[in-house]
Amino acid sequence: MTEFVRNQWYVAAYGTEIGRELFARTILGEPIVFHRTEAGEVVALADRCVHRRYPLSESRLEGDRIICGYHGFTYDTSGRCVSVPGQKRVPRTARVPAYRVVEQDSFVWVWIGEEDRAEATPVPRAPWLDDDGYTVVRGMEPLAARYDLLVDNLLDLSHETYLHGGYIGTPEVADTPITTEVDEAERVVYVSRHMDDAECPPFYARSTGIEGRITRWQDIEYRPPCLYQLHSRIAPVGVLPREDGTDPDAFHVEVVYAITPETENSTHDFWSVARDFALGDEEVSAFLRENNRTVVLQDVVALDLLEKVVEQEADGYQELSVNIDTGGLAARRMLRSMAEQGRADAERAPAAAGRVRS
Ligand SMILES: [Fe+2]
Repeated sequence: MTEFVRNQWYVAAYGTEIGRELFARTILGEPIVFHRTEAGEVVALADRCVHRRYPLSESRLEGDRIICGYHGFTYDTSGRCVSVPGQKRVPRTARVPAYRVVEQDSFVWVWIGEEDRAEATPVPRAPWLDDDGYTVVRGMEPLAARYDLLVDNLLDLSHETYLHGGYIGTPEVADTPITTEVDEAERVVYVSRHMDDAECPPFYARSTGIEGRITRWQDIEYRPPCLYQLHSRIAPVGVLPREDGTDPDAFHVEVVYAITPETENSTHDFWSVARDFALGDEEVSAFLRENNRTVVLQDVVALDLLEKVVEQEADGYQELSVNIDTGGLAARRMLRSMAEQGRADAERAPAAAGRVRS
């Protein structure tokens, strides 16, 4: 598998998932407990009491403090232990690591890696997920497969024709060649497929009300490791953006995935669908939510199956790649070089590793 890319921001949850209940989620193999303070700030701490390892997520939140459910060790929002049972003095080393957190674009992002590198790394943006000009449906499906299988899946949408026929797949998706561009400096992989005259799949026919054939543009923008966006444009055949760059006669759907490894063999598959039409229309929202979730679950079934195949295969198995795979292969190369970079950084500065917020 592609190893984990550390020293990056990852989507840990939707903001709506984190409240005044302790919430556990494992990110890149690190068990983390989340909660919201009384003032509404998201706090993320290592989910393991410093004393006897009891999960803090199975403990009690009192005010802004977590009281361990095993022996009552009490932690503040910085992870510092402020009280231990049976003695006045709290050992100086009694603290759990705190994670840096940013809430943005409906997501809770968490920094995984060396604390002092977070500041210099901007949190990726997906502005349509928190924009009055869009209506959003969303979900998260757990995947029992390594994250790179999901990267492969999303970078090559020709699978829509076969795996998602009757939902979002039509013959034109697989038949239309793609163009791939790689921006090494900004670390973005772009994959585009513009279909000028295509069948309108039910996903778009029912949500837009378009009857007949469409121009359908798929412009993928993948920012490894976590953020994947599919800019989808649908319009009646022949309708193009205007010369001034505006595009009022087309329907725009921003499909956003956050790909967050849970463990080496499991992944949090966050999906959101933002549209700039039928704003606030609950019937359209219900249809798109149900339809997209079905599509995501079709992928989950396929990728869970692939994970089992990959786990059982002999070392050195060589798969065959063709033109449709150029985006996926570029993404893999980028992930590999980012992982290597992270390892080299960690070796250069071992003292910085594992530092916590104070
Ligand atoms: Fe899919």
